[in-house]
Amino acid sequence: MARRRQLYEGKAKIIYEGPEPGTVVQYFKDDATAFNNQKKGTITGKGVLNNRISEVLMTRLNQIGVQTHFIKRLNMREQLVRQAEIVPLEVIVRNLAAGSFAKRFNMEEGTPLPRSIIEFCYKNDELGDPLVTEEHITAFGWATPPELDDIVQQTVRINDYLCGLFNGIGIRLVDFKIEFGRVWDNDVMRIILADEISPDSCRLWDLNTNEKMDKDRFRRDMGGVEEGYREVARRLGVLSENTTEFTGPKLVH
Ligand code: TMP
Repeated sequence: MARRRQLYEGKAKIIYEGPEPGTVVQYFKDDATAFNNQKKGTITGKGVLNNRISEVLMTRLNQIGVQTHFIKRLNMREQLVRQAEIVPLEVIVRNLAAGSFAKRFNMEEGTPLPRSIIEFCYKNDELGDPLVTEEHITAFGWATPPELDDIVQQTVRINDYLCGLFNGIGIRLVDFKIEFGRVWDNDVMRIILADEISPDSCRLWDLNTNEKMDKDRFRRDMGGVEEGYREVARRLGVLSENTTEFTGPKLVH
């Protein structure tokens, strides 16, 4: 069988050429990095869990009319998605102060914000994904003003919906990062939600205990990383028997 062509390898995913023009395959790795690649590790089973978690979140968002790149899950670690030209921005939504935001403003993590705040970072590893303003984005042409308006509107909807969804399963959506891409439907260009939404890209705290169920457990060497991801998957109802890779037959006594 001819080996399919790899188009791109990122820190947590590999993108392969898809079966049809306009599609690509997203492969979810177990690799984890933090602090712009300074910290590296592996979270066993993460790719499998993120594949499922992102599938369910993208599918639900699609059902409320948010257009996403997601087409279908292919197997444990892969999903078929529309090929999109990624807008080089990390769009961050913050509902509570945490992480770099809490540090920047010297706030205690978990402090509620007066309202949800959207921030943008320029996706550029060499520069360490710097925080940028709408002025930078439009002046440098990373997105046009109408594209940016569209991105902000979609982001507000996505946050509202996801806050409610997670709230319903006892999880506080503290903050998250999303990415958008451009696709062409005939001659019309559209901005759609791309990349992934998973515990790699969200801060998810248990509503009652504030226990972290996201990548901060890895970033901060807290242990129980895989368990945190697994608990998110379980509460989302996607943790059926088969979420870890098949390891061969087990001897039953
Ligand atoms: P931060 O507090 O470190 O700026 O992160 C804000 C949110 O964005 C948090 O949910 C984690 C997510 N994030 C990513 O998905 N990728 C990144 O490279 C960074 C720095 C944060």
